[in-house]
Formats: sequence, structure tokens, C-alpha cells
Amino acid sequence: MIVTTDQLFKIAYGKFAVGAYNINNMEQALGLFEGHIKAQAPFIVQISRGARNYANPIMLENIIRAAEQLYPEAIFAVHLDHGDEQTCYDCIDSGFYSSVMIDASHEPFEENVTITKRVVERAHAKGISVEAELGMLGGVEEDIAVDEKNALLTDPDEAKVFVERTGCDSLAVAIGTSHGAYKFMGGQGLHFDRMAAIQANLPGFPLVMHGSSSVPQEEVKRINAAGGALDPSAKGVDVDEFAKAVPLGVTKVNIDTDGRLVWTRVHREYFRDHPDGFDFRKPGKIFVPAYADFIVHKSHKLLSAGKLDVVRQALM
Ligand code: G3H
Ligand code: 13P
Ligand code: ZN
Repeated sequence: MIVTTDQLFKIAYGKFAVGAYNINNMEQALGLFEGHIKAQAPFIVQISRGARNYANPIMLENIIRAAEQLYPEAIFAVHLDHGDEQTCYDCIDSGFYSSVMIDASHEPFEENVTITKRVVERAHAKGISVEAELGMLGGVEEDIAVDEKNALLTDPDEAKVFVERTGCDSLAVAIGTSHGAYKFMGGQGLHFDRMAAIQANLPGFPLVMHGSSSVPQEEVKRINAAGGALDPSAKGVDVDEFAKAVPLGVTKVNIDTDGRLVWTRVHREYFRDHPDGFDFRKPGKIFVPAYADFIVHKSHKLLSAGKLDVVRQALM
């Protein structure tokens, strides 16, 4: 069942974080739904502009609708990840998305406010909620590269003004994470003090943590042992820190890179062990349950495992 992102956030705030995972293909969708049913966890399926360009929005919508039919027990929202203004409008008008993210964080503050406000007006008129972003994460975000060292953490006072002026429904905050497989290169970790200061200014308001993959060392080693050449300094968020972020208002946690690592590991190992193989369904059959197991593990760390009944009750 597709629900609104707002409904999930109201139930989750302060108790658990909703995992938001990017999908690009059928295999990811199958593993995502299978894993969340196994974990009995609600979740958010998110689609980036890159995914829309890769798989076509109609294909993605129908993959998700098919997964919904195959897993009728699933409770989830559908979200546009890192949208620009036009893509937000396309998604709002499509009637399929529960929420959109307008990412104008690379713009000066006033421009970010103006663009976000325009999107909020269009989205709210259709009952769709809006995630905005303030501050800059390190790493690569769609086509914008931001030097990790210059990554700007979200200013708590600006965050309060930004939310008041734009009317956005949730806020992606820069609290030390970055996108991709090479986080915390400057040696720092999550800034819990900054999360607490933002929450103090925005009590009860859902915060979103992007760049939340944990980049498991074991996964990197297996990929490299099977012919990969990932930098062994690859590093991510400690999964045990999600539980500390939840009481500080982090309600949505975005994970994409880790899923890509599972895909890469499974396919590299399969073709290493089967050099004569060319039936892609064979590694696909290994990937789906591996991805489902990965989702189960994340759901426990996000504290969302076992919450499906609570969510169902609250939605009645
Ligand atoms: O934060 C970005 C997500 O990982 C999506 O990546 O734009 O390559 O689809 P993508
Ligand atoms: P990761 O690169 O850490 O998986 O972050 C994904 C993300 O923030 C998607 O918006
Ligand atoms: Zn992101």
C-alpha cells in the first residue's frame, strides 16, 4: 500500500527512522519489497533523476506498482530524490509520488527559499509533501561536486527560518555525511551536537540524513578480491549510530551506495566463479535474496523492523 510520506513521519518521529532506498531496476525492487516484508518494516522507495533517465519514469512506476501487487502487505511511500524544480513539477503532476525533494541547497539561501517555496505551493495543492535541503553535504550530489573539506554543515538558526519561510515538510540536513563510498575523509564522523541544535530549533520536525550508507569493509574487500579496484579507504556511517540519531529527529535515512555495493559484489563474484557464464538471471537470482537480507539488517539498525503492525494500526 502506498501511503503519504507525512503519515510515515508522524508515526516514526523519535521512535524509528524510515529507510529510503533508491531503485533503478526490477531486481532492486524485488529485494527491497522482499526484505521489508521479512523485516516487517515500512519504507520509502526513492527515485533519482538519474534513475528516471536510466529506466524511464513509466517503467519505474510500473515496476513499483507490480511490486505492490506482489507484496500486498508492504506499506511504503514513493519519493523523488534530489529533484530540480522541473522534475518536482513532473512528479507532482504525475499523481504517483507521495513526496518530492527539491534540492536547491547549492543556491544561495534566498534563492533556495524562493525555489523551495514555489515547489511547496504546487505540491501542497495536490497533497504531496516536500523535502528540502539546507547546507551542503560533501561528495558528489547528482552533477554537483562539493569538496568534502568545504562541506557546509546546516546552520540551526537558518534551518528554523528556512522551514518557517518555505513551509517544507522535512529537511535534509548536512551533519557530516556525504554521498558515495568515500565518506569522512577528513576523519570526522556524524555531528550529533549539530543534530541536537537543529532539533532544539525545530522540535518535532522530521530531519533527513542523506549519504547514510555504511560502506562495509567486508563488502569492499570481496569486491576487490573479485576483480574490483575500489579504494580500500572507502568508508561510511556506523550503522549503530542510526539509533542515536533517531531521538534527535532523524526520521528518514537515505541509502543507495550500499545497495550498489551488494549488486557489484554479487555480480563480480558470480562472473569470477563462472567465467564461461552469460545468463544474467543467474547472478540476478543471487542478488535479490542478498539485497533482501541487506534490507533486513538495515531495518533493525534503523529501528523500523517489526513496526509494520504499529503503522497499520495508526493508519486505520
Ligand atoms: O544521492 C544520490 C543517489 O545516490 C542517487 O544517485 O543520481 O546516481 O541515481 P544517482
Ligand atoms: P549514499 O551514497 O550514502 O548511499 O547516500 C544516498 C543518498 O543520500 C540518496 O539521496
Ligand atoms: Zn542524497
